[in-house]
Formats: sequence, C-alpha cells, structure tokens
Amino acid sequence: MKLGTLTIEPAVLLAPMAGITDSPFRSLARNLGCPAVFTEMVSCEGIIRDQPGSLRLLFFLPDEHPVIAQIFGSRPEAMADAALHCQALGFDAVDINMGCPVKKVTKNGAGAALMREPENAARIVAAIRRAVTIPVLAKLRSGWSPEEINAVALARRLVDSGLDAVSVHPRTRSQFYSLSADWRIIAQVTAAVDVPVIGNGDVRTVEDAERMRRQTGCAGVMVGRAAQGNPWLPGRMAGLRTTPPGRDEIHRVFCIHLEKMIDWMGSQRRAIMRMRKHAVWYTRGVKGAATLRHGLGNLHTAADMKRAMAALLLDN
Ligand SMILES: Cc1cc2nc3c(=O)[nH]c(=O)nc-3n(C[C@H](O)[C@H](O)[C@H](O)COP(=O)(O)O)c2cc1C
Repeated sequence: MKLGTLTIEPAVLLAPMAGITDSPFRSLARNLGCPAVFTEMVSCEGIIRDQPGSLRLLFFLPDEHPVIAQIFGSRPEAMADAALHCQALGFDAVDINMGCPVKKVTKNGAGAALMREPENAARIVAAIRRAVTIPVLAKLRSGWSPEEINAVALARRLVDSGLDAVSVHPRTRSQFYSLSADWRIIAQVTAAVDVPVIGNGDVRTVEDAERMRRQTGCAGVMVGRAAQGNPWLPGRMAGLRTTPPGRDEIHRVFCIHLEKMIDWMGSQRRAIMRMRKHAVWYTRGVKGAATLRHGLGNLHTAADMKRAMAALLLDN
C-alpha cells in the first residue's frame, strides 16, 4: 500500500486508541511484526500551545517507524501548524481524526463533528497538505447518524483537497461502538476514490482481516480492540507468524511491556496503574484470571506485578 511517499507492506495497521496505543504498546506491536502504527489522538491546540500532556503523547521510539501521528481539532491553521510540528518530530505521516464520537471533542467541531462539516473538513485537509510534505490521511466514520451517512461523498471531497489515503470505521457517530461495523460502506468508499482505503471495524482474527480485504477491496486493514492484550495479532495478520503465543511468551512480552511503560511514564507507580487493564487483557480466558483482577490493586511494585502474572501464566 502506497501512501504518497510511504509504503506499508503488508498493509496491516494498529488503530489509534486513546489511552492504549501509547509509545510502549506501539513499540511492542512493531517489534512483533505489526507493519505500521498510529499514535492515540492528540489535540492540535495542545500541540501548538506546547502543552506537556500533548507533547508527551507525541514521543516515539526509533523502532516504531513507520509511525503515524493522529491529531484532532477544528481550526485549519492550528491543524496545519500541529501537522508541521509532527513532521518536524519525524513522524512518517499525519492522520486527521474525523471519527471521535466523544462530546468533549465534537462540541468543539472536531472528531466526528467534521463528518457534518465537510467544508471545514476539506479546509483542514488543504491547509495540512500545504504545510507538510509527509503523507496526509484522515480517519472517517460512516456519518454522523443513520440519516446522515456521507462517508463516500466526504472521502471524495477530501481526496480532491489533497488526502493521500482514507481510513473508514463504518459506524455512525451516534452508534459509538455498538452494533456491528457496516463493511459495505468500506467497499463503497474504495470504489469511489483513487487513493488507498484502510478498512476498520470488528476485525478480530487473521481470517477477519482476509475477509475484509476480499469483501471490500480495501488496500489496508486496521485493527483496534482485538489487539488489546494481543500485540501479536497485527503481525499475525501481516503473515509474519502463524501461531498464537504460548503462556511463556505472553509472560515475557507482558514484562517487556511493563518495563517500557516504566521508562515512558518515568514512574513505577503510574506505570503499574496503567498496566492493570493490560494485565486483565493479556490474561483473558486464562483460568484463575478473576483472582488476579481482584488483586491488582494490591500490586505496588513491578516485581509484584511480574510475580503475579508468572503465578497465573506459568505455574497454573
Ligand atoms: C479505547 C478506545 C480508544 C480509541 N481512541 C481512538 C483515537 O484516539 N482515535 C481514533 O481515530 N479512533 C479511536 N478509537 C477507535 C478505533 O481506532 C477503531 O476505529 C474502533 O475501535 C473500531 O475498530 P475495532 O473494531 O478494530 O476496535 C478508539 C477505540 C477505543 C476502543
């Protein structure tokens, strides 16, 4: 899949997920064969005001390349400045969030609200296109509501404004994450534009990824929630390994994840808190995982957490 000057092959991408696809998780996924990763969404206003919280989200490790920065906002000039900043930091591409359904974001005209503001969405793409030389992407939903499905028309318009590729998560804003994603809309967008389309939504297995490509003709597949606790999955979808990890490997990778988290957060205590949800995901389906879940609040050091995971994964 060619996105302007960037080639991603095989075209499997880790979706942007706020609070999840931070630098430690992206680095882990890349090292396990995921061909490309997105940052979680970062506020363009935070970036241009040098807010430490936003700038921290833009930190990445050398082994994350190709890494795509996802930004959100509604002011074309601010989005262009933020995109330029991402380019200067060394990101391989910039992605515009047009899918976030959360009110805090949409009430300011950003995220999925841009699906309803095609004029402004096109202005944002054009402003970023003028500002940077790296590829420019946008991630769309199918529309704002079942009565306002407009992914095809908007994608066409954004491509005319200079977009290099478009990702489609075919749920409406009003659906949030409920019901299933309507892959037919991915097929419609694919047929309508002459840039690569990345399909997203409910891809949970290697077979799902294949099926999405076959049914929609999309150039790339993006995987989100199914990669939680399973950073091997995008690499497996890319064909780089065939077998799921065994318990030993799950434990080993969890420990690496935890160490990377401590490095990134600069605090063992905060890293442990953030790793609690990952510990639950890594041990999904393992007998006795409920006991670990209930005891997570009592684990105060990295050594405690590694020991508890070993007891569950290796000694049981
Ligand atoms: C916890 C969480 C955080 C998310 N954060 C973002 C985000 O920052 N930017 C974005 O474009 N989409 C975000 N998404 C949406 C995902 O990228 C993806 O479109 C959605 O989960 C559907 O794909 P899936 O079925 O593979 O999970 C988020 C989803 C979840 C579950």
